[in-house]
Amino acid sequence: MPSDFHATADISDLLARRKVLGPAYRLFYDVPVDPVRGEGVWLFDAAGKRYLDAYNNVPVVGHANPAVVEALARQAAILNTHTRYLHDGVLTYAERLLANFPAALDTVMLTCTGSEANDLALRIAAEATGRKGVIVTRNAYHGVTQALADVSPSLRPVAAHVRTIEAPCHLTGSPADVANQFAAQIDGAARDLARAGTPVAALMIDTVFASDGIYIADGEVLSRAAAQVRAHGGLFIADEVQGGFNRIGRHWWAFQRETVVPDMVSLGKPMGNGHPMAGLVLQAPLIEAFGKNCRYFNTFGGNTVSAAVGLAVLNELERMNAPAHVAQVGQLMNDGLSRLAQRFACVGSVRGQGLYWGVDICDPAGDPLRGAQMAQAISNGLRHEGVLIGVSGRQGNALKIRPPLVFQAEHVEMLMSALARQCQAVLATAS
Ligand SMILES: Cc1ncc(COP(=O)(O)O)c(C=O)c1O
Repeated sequence: MPSDFHATADISDLLARRKVLGPAYRLFYDVPVDPVRGEGVWLFDAAGKRYLDAYNNVPVVGHANPAVVEALARQAAILNTHTRYLHDGVLTYAERLLANFPAALDTVMLTCTGSEANDLALRIAAEATGRKGVIVTRNAYHGVTQALADVSPSLRPVAAHVRTIEAPCHLTGSPADVANQFAAQIDGAARDLARAGTPVAALMIDTVFASDGIYIADGEVLSRAAAQVRAHGGLFIADEVQGGFNRIGRHWWAFQRETVVPDMVSLGKPMGNGHPMAGLVLQAPLIEAFGKNCRYFNTFGGNTVSAAVGLAVLNELERMNAPAHVAQVGQLMNDGLSRLAQRFACVGSVRGQGLYWGVDICDPAGDPLRGAQMAQAISNGLRHEGVLIGVSGRQGNALKIRPPLVFQAEHVEMLMSALARQCQAVLATAS
């Protein structure tokens, strides 16, 4: 089916026209990519060049997944309304989604973006505790609203009612040591907030610590953290916008690598495979208290078409047995990245699980700025080869790899060969 949009291979024309979007947006890569079509793990640009997508976690069941597209088109041709009418679709979707959660997480509120879900979580936490203090990690990102910019130190300094703590990827020692240090910081931050007259309402944690540099180790980091904030009367909000929907393999949700059950879990990005849908899953007593004082209506959150799309995504994830598939391909990713680390002096720590990986690029001579430049050079070099990844972390030197979950063994092989070529190239330039 042809697109309504004009496919132009002239990047300079697109760049010139882009001023209509204003200056706040950022593009990836030294030469931006202009995809016009996607299919599975592949993106195609206007000139017909094919890119292996090892970056985009939103199209979780593959770009332009036919079953999802079909569900969207079918429901859009029948009815699209909102949660003020009764409809089987939204209820079926909510029931199917919640079936993948621990029993205590028995309620879902539907939104359109991860930001709306996190914003609602903060409102509910404030209402439930009568407090407003929030603890987040040092380079966290939780969304675009004013309240979330206040708790997103990767965007700008946090607000007065917020305290930051070091993410586990920047702590050292055994997993038990890391969990101890992380919990001790929460204790200190909660005491500090209380002294400042803004006691803690919530600890909000991205369960894969994506913008801090990625940490997905098994252990007790999240469980200890939740216990610590609860001991101070606060709630534990697991931000699963990055880590959810089988991203780390074995489990549907990244928090399930531990025994912890969060008070609230925010979802987003992959939930609609690109269709804007998100949500907040929570323990019923919290929303009962909130619902007594506030009403909640989100015009598009939980609309009939979104419910059909969300259901198709769940079906696809179940059909591909995502927890097992991601664990299996993730093991290949682990093996390949570990081999790279042994082979190339510029590859430092490799952190991740399933299909979410962070790879530190370090200057062999120890210059941190140069490490970030080398990471950019690798990412740009890959882009020119036709492989897409990203760069993240506080120092900007962590390669971020998180492909659609339909990634297969052959794609891991392609990615590893391309990474090896690019590591070799940056080391050759450095020497
Ligand atoms: C961890 C995390 N939380 C929340 C959000 C916000 O989600 P959205 O962009 O859908 O508002 C993001 C987006 O990147 C995110 O990475």
